[in-house]
Amino acid sequence: MRYSVKGGSPDKIVTDCLVVSIWANGRLSDEAKILDDKTKKLISVLVSGGDIGGNLGETLIVHQPTGISAKRVLLAGAGDKKKFCADSAKKFIESIFKTCGKLKASSVHLSIGSCEPNDRDRNWVATQISQEVEITGYRYDKTKSKKLKPWSTKAVSISPKLSSHRKGLESSLKRGQSVGKAINQARELGNLPGNICTPTYLAQQAMDLASKNRRISTKVLSEKQMARLGMGSLLSVSAGSAEDAKLIEMRYQGTKATSQPYAIVGKGITFDTGGISLKSSGGMDEMKFDMCGAASVIATMGCIAELKLPINVVGLVAAAENMPGSKATKPGDIVTTMSGKTVEILNTDAEGRLVLCDALTYVERFKPRTIIDIATLTGAAVATFGSYANALLSNNQSLADAILECGEFSMDRAWQLPLWDEYQHLLKSNFADIANIGGPRAGTITAACFLSRFTEKQKWAHLDIAGSAWFSGAKKGATGRPVSLLVEYLSRQK
Ligand code: BES
Ligand code: MN
Ligand code: ZN
Repeated sequence: MRYSVKGGSPDKIVTDCLVVSIWANGRLSDEAKILDDKTKKLISVLVSGGDIGGNLGETLIVHQPTGISAKRVLLAGAGDKKKFCADSAKKFIESIFKTCGKLKASSVHLSIGSCEPNDRDRNWVATQISQEVEITGYRYDKTKSKKLKPWSTKAVSISPKLSSHRKGLESSLKRGQSVGKAINQARELGNLPGNICTPTYLAQQAMDLASKNRRISTKVLSEKQMARLGMGSLLSVSAGSAEDAKLIEMRYQGTKATSQPYAIVGKGITFDTGGISLKSSGGMDEMKFDMCGAASVIATMGCIAELKLPINVVGLVAAAENMPGSKATKPGDIVTTMSGKTVEILNTDAEGRLVLCDALTYVERFKPRTIIDIATLTGAAVATFGSYANALLSNNQSLADAILECGEFSMDRAWQLPLWDEYQHLLKSNFADIANIGGPRAGTITAACFLSRFTEKQKWAHLDIAGSAWFSGAKKGATGRPVSLLVEYLSRQK
């Protein structure tokens, strides 16, 4: 997709599809007024005839309008002008491109400079536009014999309100495009089936990143190397699988080598059967998405390299397949983690924390400023938050606050749960230092409590994305979350 900023009056813009907004109760936006004057009141007629009311998300296509240069006009409802905020802007932009997706328009121009949300600036809007265009254009067809037709739109442009805004808008369009592409990469990895997207496949993706980006270097640790490091917990998860586990280490260097990095750590269970604590078969296919944390880490690494962020970042992925088998870990088995702590595995389906704890110990060697892990960790997070919030738990409130704010800003929102000491006793084991499950209650919190035992010396936050990482049902597919949150967080660091 090509993005650009085009000045000039909306009636003179040459495009396949010109978009202007209508506010609630049919009030014309400044740009719509100009078109109305040039088209002998065509828009006023449509509004007074009730063809479009201006409610948020409404759209109406007008073909071959006369008096202006555009081939079509898309009238887009923007809702109540006074209440137009980031949330409305997002819905507004989504509705525009959903409609454009059905058109055979090779170019789309948005004259919506007068739609400024009351809580964000124009650059934020531009970022959302290109990000949304990328997301709308994504099609999954890797494993279909008939390839889907790509979106016919090849160019998207926007008008600046003032010509002095051009530079900022252009770089915002670029940034949104990068983030959108990264989101799509995470979606693609998530959507690929478990027989293709294996730990080895994820490792290959990370190697590809390094060969495409001068500033990224990737190292993949084999099971043998992990055994030497004492990662008994991580290896207990892959024990029942024919697929070798991989610990994937990506390092992005955007500043001097001595500058301490930020760390992001992803759960990469490429398929979670539950192991010997086997899951029931209904909907088990969705456990191919159990590597969405890893996908978000890989995609974020590529994105920050494209954005050339002036920081160092370590991206770590703990990749394994959780299968039952004659060598599989059994309930009651006790393993020794890299930290030296022993774990009684009471349920082999609580495997995410088992791979993450060793990755979190390993990442300490980089002396990270902060660590964020991202994991589809608990069904309890789905029960609590459904599809929309990333669950956030942290041992450091200023880190948690920063993540909450970045979530709000990027519309990839998180909500914090308590990580109080009171919950820790639920992980007591009679036979090891710690059990890997905390009973039926407060499942998202006890999972985070488990991880917290391995991050005691670190500024650490945990994002449980079990609900937000993919949709079930008719819209089944990975969402690419929380890539935009992570990119936003890292962009704000120095
Ligand atoms: N990958 C699952 C979590 C999950 C379940 C995500 C459903 C999305 C939808 C994780 O490995 C798991 O199985 N967790 C168990 C933990 C339990 C055994 C303590 C769960 O949540 O049921
Ligand atoms: Mn599991
Ligand atoms: Zn899992």
